[in-house]
Amino acid sequence: MEAKVKSVDTTSIWRKKPLAAYEADMKKSELKRVLTRWGLTSLGIGAVIGGGVFVLTGIAANEWAGPALALSFMMAGVACAFAALCYAEFASILPVEGSAYAYSYGTVGEIFAWLIGWNLILEYMMGATTVAVSWSGYFEKLLHLVGINPPLWLMNDPVTAQEKAEALRKAGETIPDFTFAVNLPAFLIVWVVTYILVKGIKEAASTNNVIVIVKVATVIFVIVAGAFYVESANWTPFIPNPVVDKTGQTHYGFDGIVTAAGIVFFAYIGFDAVSTQAGEAINPKKDVPFAIIASLIICTVLYILVSLVLTGMVRYDALDLKAPVAQAFADKGLTWAVYLITIAAIAGLTSVMLVMMLGQTRIFLGMAKDGLLPKNLFASIHPTFKTPWKSTILVGGIVSTVAALTPIDKVSELCSSGTLLAFAMICGAVWLLRVREPNLERPYRTPALPVVATLGICANLYLMYHLRTDTKLTFVIWCTLGVIVYFLYSRRHSNLNNQE
Ligand code: ALA
Repeated sequence: MEAKVKSVDTTSIWRKKPLAAYEADMKKSELKRVLTRWGLTSLGIGAVIGGGVFVLTGIAANEWAGPALALSFMMAGVACAFAALCYAEFASILPVEGSAYAYSYGTVGEIFAWLIGWNLILEYMMGATTVAVSWSGYFEKLLHLVGINPPLWLMNDPVTAQEKAEALRKAGETIPDFTFAVNLPAFLIVWVVTYILVKGIKEAASTNNVIVIVKVATVIFVIVAGAFYVESANWTPFIPNPVVDKTGQTHYGFDGIVTAAGIVFFAYIGFDAVSTQAGEAINPKKDVPFAIIASLIICTVLYILVSLVLTGMVRYDALDLKAPVAQAFADKGLTWAVYLITIAAIAGLTSVMLVMMLGQTRIFLGMAKDGLLPKNLFASIHPTFKTPWKSTILVGGIVSTVAALTPIDKVSELCSSGTLLAFAMICGAVWLLRVREPNLERPYRTPALPVVATLGICANLYLMYHLRTDTKLTFVIWCTLGVIVYFLYSRRHSNLNNQE
C-alpha cells in the first residue's frame, strides 16, 4: 500500500487514486450495507424497464426498423452486454459507490475519471428528467381514462404547452390563452422520489421491489396476452425496404435497424446503476457482478419478446408514437388492459427515477470524497437516515425544475450519448487494469477480455456515431464545459494534491 501511495504523481491530470485508498474509503463508509443479491438485481431491473419500452418502441418500429425492432433490441443489448461484462469485473475489484467514475480513477487517471463522472450526470440526471416528463404523460393519460381533463398549462412546460394549444386551436378547439405553464405532475413526482431517497436506502429498496414486481408482471402480461392477438402477416416484410428521406437519412433496412438500436439503447440504460450501490451491498464483490449481468439478461429477453408481440399485434406503420403498448391493446378493444398498462407504466417510471436519482447522488458522493466536488454539499451524510441528504435535495431540485419548465423531448438521446461514451471508456479501462495490475484479486473475471473490450468499445462508439448530429454537437459542448470545471475547481481541490 505504501509503495502505491508514494508512486502517485501529484501534478499530472493522469494521476490515479491508489487502489489501497478505496479499501480505506470502504472501511470508513457510513452507508448501511443492506442490499442482497436479488435486491440489487431488482434495483437494476427497476432502473431499466421504463420509458424505453413503454414509449420509444413506437417511434423506433414505426419510423426506423419496422418489425425488425427485435433485431435493434438485440443489437443494443449486445453493446450493453460487452459493457456489462466489463462493469462486472470492475465492480468485483472495487465495490465502492461511484461506479464507472471510481473504476477509472483507480486505473486510467483523474481527468478520464472526471469526464466519465461528468457524462454519468447526463445518464442519471438527464435520464431521471426525461423519465419524469414521460411519467407525467402517462399520468395525464390515466386522468383522461377516468374522465378528468386538466388544463394544458398545468401538465406541460411553457414551450410544449403553447405548441399543443396552437395545434388544438388549428384543429378547431377553443383553448383559452395562458401566460404561464408548468409540468406540475413531473415536478411533484420528483419531490416524492426525493423524499423517499432522503429517508433511506432500505425504504427506497423496498418501494422499488414492489414496483419491480408490478412492472415485470405487466410486461409478462403484455407478452402472453398480446401473443393471442399476433397476426403473422404483420411481420411481413420483417425488414421493410430502405427509404431515404429528404434529409438523406435511411429509414428501415439495415441502417434503419441501427438507428433504431441507438434510440432503444435508452431502454437499457440503468443496469449499470447497480454498480453505484456497491457501497450499500452486503456482499458487493460477488453480488454486484451477478446483479449487473442478471438484470441485463432478464430485460433483454423481455424487450425482444415485447417488440415481437407489439409488431405482430399492430402493423409497424400503424403503431402509436406516444404510448404504443397501451394503444395496441386499445386497438383490440381491451380497455381494462389499457388501464393496467398505464398504471404499470406510471409505477415503472417511478422506479426508474428512484434508481437514477439514487445513482446520481452516489456518484456525486464518490467524487466529493475524492475532493473533486465540494465535500460539505455532496458528501454530507444525514446523522439519522444515513443518506447523502443535501445532494439528494439538490438533485431533486434540479431534476424537478428542468422537468417542470423545459421542453426536453429530445434529451433522451443526449442521455444515451453520455452513457455510450462511459460504456466505451469502461471497456477500455478494465482491459488497461488487467495489463497494469495482472495479479490483483478479481472475484469476477470478464471472459475473453481483449475481444470483449474491443467489441464493447467499437459497438458503443458505433451506436454513438449513429446519433443525430445536433445531439453530438450538444454533447461536445457538455464535455468542454466539464473540462473547464475540472481545471477551475476539481484539479485544485483533489485529495491527491495532498498525497505526498
Ligand atoms: N432504461 C430506462 C427507461 O427506459 C432509462 O426508462
